[in-house]
Amino acid sequence: MRVNVHVNGVRETVDDVWEGESLLYLLRERMGLPGSKNACEQGECGSCTVYLDGVPACSCLVAAGQARERSVRTVEGLATATGTADRLDPVQQAFVETGAVQCGFCTPGLIVQAHDLIERNPEPTDAEIREALAGNLCRCTGYEKILDAVRVAARRKAAAQ
Ligand code: FES
Ligand code: FES
Repeated sequence: MRVNVHVNGVRETVDDVWEGESLLYLLRERMGLPGSKNACEQGECGSCTVYLDGVPACSCLVAAGQARERSVRTVEGLATATGTADRLDPVQQAFVETGAVQCGFCTPGLIVQAHDLIERNPEPTDAEIREALAGNLCRCTGYEKILDAVRVAARRKAAAQ
């Protein structure tokens, strides 16, 4: 089947999509967007999180056909949305600077989820950060550096407004 989908602001057409294909597969294997990671493929880890019509979703649980004519924003799209193509979003920058990235497998999903949190709640408490990121698993960092990254990003975004 053919799937038309808006990805990071561009309308894309993908042909020969099979019925059981996930949005995650579509993004990674057909569109050359490997940022969203495939760790569990069961909706358990959050590493595949993308915005779907502005709401974070596990792309491994969304059938590619369900994304037809909808808007998808991936971790790659956060960077380009700030202006020039190689300029990171403040959340991405904070993850790099605070040491919140180790193996990096969880990072794209955490960044999308943290980005959404700060958009909705510019000054989140630690409890609110933990709750927002509860569905995103990290096996490397112990989460403290991730909390640091979200705090830093929220402060910077607030200062820039
Ligand atoms: S790969 Fe989708 S939730 Fe783990
Ligand atoms: S940095 Fe390795 S799983 Fe989080």
